[in-house]
Formats: sequence, C-alpha cells, structure tokens
Amino acid sequence: MNTALSYASLPEIETELLVILAVDTQTAKGADVKPQPELLTSNEAVKAAAAAVLASGEFKASANETLLLHAPAELKAKRLLIVGLGKKAKATVHGVRSAAGTAVRFSKPRGIRELVFALPETELVATGAAARAAVEGGFLGDYDPDTYRSDRKDLSVKSFTVAAPGADQMAVQAGFGEGVIVGESQTFTRTLVNEPGNKLTPTILGQRAAAMAAEVGLACEVHSTAKLAELKMGAFLGVAQGSAEPPALIVLRYEPEGVKDGPLLALVGKGITFDTGGISIKPAEKMELMKYDMAGAAAMLGAMRAIALLRPKVRVLAIVCSAENMPDGKAYKPGDVVTAMSGKTIDVINTDAEGRLVLADGITYARQLGATHLIDAATLTGAVVVALGTHNAGTFSNDDETYAKFQAALATSGEKFWRLPLGEEYADQIKSDIADIKNTGGRHGGAITAAEFLHTFAEDAPWIHLDIAGLAWIEDSRPYVAKGPSGFAVRSILEWVRSY
Ligand code: BES
Ligand code: MN
Ligand code: ZN
Repeated sequence: MNTALSYASLPEIETELLVILAVDTQTAKGADVKPQPELLTSNEAVKAAAAAVLASGEFKASANETLLLHAPAELKAKRLLIVGLGKKAKATVHGVRSAAGTAVRFSKPRGIRELVFALPETELVATGAAARAAVEGGFLGDYDPDTYRSDRKDLSVKSFTVAAPGADQMAVQAGFGEGVIVGESQTFTRTLVNEPGNKLTPTILGQRAAAMAAEVGLACEVHSTAKLAELKMGAFLGVAQGSAEPPALIVLRYEPEGVKDGPLLALVGKGITFDTGGISIKPAEKMELMKYDMAGAAAMLGAMRAIALLRPKVRVLAIVCSAENMPDGKAYKPGDVVTAMSGKTIDVINTDAEGRLVLADGITYARQLGATHLIDAATLTGAVVVALGTHNAGTFSNDDETYAKFQAALATSGEKFWRLPLGEEYADQIKSDIADIKNTGGRHGGAITAAEFLHTFAEDAPWIHLDIAGLAWIEDSRPYVAKGPSGFAVRSILEWVRSY
C-alpha cells in the first residue's frame, strides 16, 4: 500500500473515495431521540454535501459506522464516505486509527483501490498523533490473511492518502512518517504469524529475521543446536529435541551511534512455530491455530524493525527462541529433568508448558549479554485467556519503575494490557519434589505461575512479561481489521523502548 500526504482543500481533491469522520453529539437518551452527528471538518462544501443525509437521522456516527454518498455535490471526489467515531465526549486518537482501518476495509471488497482520509479537524485529538494513527489504521485495515488462496484477487488498496488542509505540516509529517514505519512493521509481524507451521519452521523464521535485519540495518546472528549446546541451554534444547526441525536462536542488535552505555534493553520472544503440546499432546480441536505460538517472537521482530527505522537513542537486543514442540521417539517426556542455562534444574510435568522453558534460557542469555532491562512476549498460557478474555492481554513485572514506563507507553499504543500479580505464594506452586522448579503449577492461577516460572530466571533484573495468548489472533473480524493475526504488542513494545 502506497501512502501519501496532501494539504489540498478537500473539495479540490480528485479521488475515488474521500473519507470524513463524524462524532455523535447527542447526549439525550431514549427511543425517539434523533441522532446528532457532527462532521469533523471546517469545510463548508463537504458539510453541505452531507447535510441532507445527516439531517435524515439515518446515521448516528457510532464507532466505525459508515455512510456512503455517491457523486457528492460540489466535490471533485467520486464518493464521500462518512465514518463514525462514536460519542464526542469519548473520541480518541485510537478511534481515528480504527476509523481509518474501517475506511480501508470498506474500500477493499468494493474494488476501490485508492482513497483519501481527511484528518479530523478537532481539538479532541492532537494533529501529529492523529496523522500517525490514520496511517497505522490504513495498514491494519489493508491486511488480509488469505495469502495462500489461489483465487486471491489482489484487493489490496493501492494508495492511501492523508489529507490535512490547514494543519500544522511539521506535526502531520512527523506523525505520518512514524505511522508508515509502525504500520509496515505490524504488517511484517502479522505476515509471520499467519504463516503455517510447514511454511515457517524455526530455520525459516531465522532467515526471515536475517533478511529483515539486513534491510533495516540491524546486526543479526542466527544460531542452532550446536550453539544451544555450547551455551548449555538445556531447557530450550529439551523442547526442540522432539522435532526433526532444528531450533533457531535469533539475536538482533540495535546499537545507535554514539550510545555506548546507559540501559541495554532486551526483547525476548517465544517463537514456537508449531505447538502440538509434545508428548502431553493437545486435543485436535483448534490445534491448527498453534501455528501462532510464535506471535511473541514475531512481535519482537516487528518492534525491532520499527526501532531500527525510528532510531531511538538506546541500545536494544532481541532474542528469539524458536523451536517446534512435537511428540517423537526423541521428544522430552513428562517427568524428565532438564538443566537450564542458568544452572537451575526443571522438572518437566507437562511438555505442553514449553514456552516458559525456551524463554527461561532466552532470558538467561539476555542477562549474560548484559541486558539491564528485560521484556518478554509470549502466547504463554490458555489461563490468561480464561482470566482476561480477548480484550486485555496479561502483563507482569517485578519492578514498578520499569512497569510505569510500559503503562505510559500504552497511552500511545492504544493496546490494552492488564497487570496481574506475582507473589511468593504463586512461586510456591511451582516448587518441585525432585528438582529446583517444575514447569506447571496446577490449574489455579495458571498465567501467574507461568510468569513466576519466568521470574525465577529474570530474578531481580527489571523485567516485564507479556502474555498475549488471547490477543495475538483475532477470532472474529471487525470493521477495521480482518480476523487472524493481529500484530498485537508491537506498538506497545516499541513505545516502551522509545521511552528510554
Ligand atoms: N501455546 C500454549 C498457550 C496458548 C493457548 C496460546 C491457547 C494460545 C492459545 C502454551 O504452550 C500451552 O500449551 N500452555 C498450557 C500450559 C499448561 C500445560 C500448564 C496451557 O495453557 O494449557
Ligand atoms: Mn504448549
Ligand atoms: Zn505454546
């Protein structure tokens, strides 16, 4: 999708589709209360073109509601699309992102390949942030996961233009530039997550990471079994040993010029390219979705891509632990004891609790490489989905100061995370009779005991854990985004990094 900026007066813009946002200003409630939509433009010609239909009461301007007009009077655009932002009092920049996605997804099935999105003229959202959100939303809406359909008509929107007549051009340009980088990076993540297990093995994930790194100028190393053995990554190797596909340990480095000290942030991602559960095999139902068990890794890779292009003044390291979790004659078994890189011994109660095993060694390695602050992302537990559903991801931290920076990043990213507790009592649940620790803590508080498992390896290094199992894959499509891989967490991780 090509993107462009225009400062032309809206009626002068020749386009297939001009998109204008509207808010719902009606505060009264009741069955006979008429909608009161208000267009977020100062342009009289645009207002006049929409006046009759808005007065009809057909359109409420609720969030992502659309209304299409053909041949709008006095405008050069062929069509005018009005997209709702919802209640005026609740309008945010995140609504602008969704509205842009809605406009693109409205266009795609109608064969509209080119559209112009007018930035809302309103004090409700800051100009630069709105420009960024609009472009991000455009990319989010444009993505569809039907890569492998042979009848795939390339319905992708070819050109998405942000129109900002009269706006502060410096602010618009800066936001727009960021939006392109972030939008494309999220698409990169979604494309990886969408790949089936046979098309994206750990080795291929390593190749994709290396190609991306070369493109954006990141240092990259991809290691496999020999290096894992040399580093004594017994937990990671234990998971990998049941697969014919060798594991991949992917290390990316972002080292901005002139930054020799200060924090070294480590991004650690779970990259299970397919999770069968191993010998503790999963039921068949929905097992096909376990191709997305590398979404944490893909989020880290997408964030690194954006970091490389946005160039924050802080050193960042990414460590992706990638393997396939398979049952096999050589597979690790329940009851096995593995020795992690840190030297801790782990009693494997359930081979399906594999994510925490690969991450344990990834976290230890990050610390050995000098990381001062750690963040990990993983589709780690079904339990977090039971706890929080699919609207908030789970997050945990052993350090309030580090977590405060993440919490602040969420205001920009618009992604919802809910912090869950850690605690000694939960750590007690994963004490083993025969080893230092066991890899499951029973049915109760499963997301928390998984986090406590990782905490054992992070120890007191400032660390944040993101359990994105419920949000990395969207089960039902929405007006602004296709069902399938969401690219969730890329923006939040990126903003957390930029806060240093
Ligand atoms: N990859 C799964 C978690 C998961 C479940 C991700 C659903 C996305 C959707 C993870 O490896 C796993 O299997 N976890 C087990 C842990 C249990 C055995 C302690 C789980 O959640 O059931
Ligand atoms: Mn599993
Ligand atoms: Zn898993």
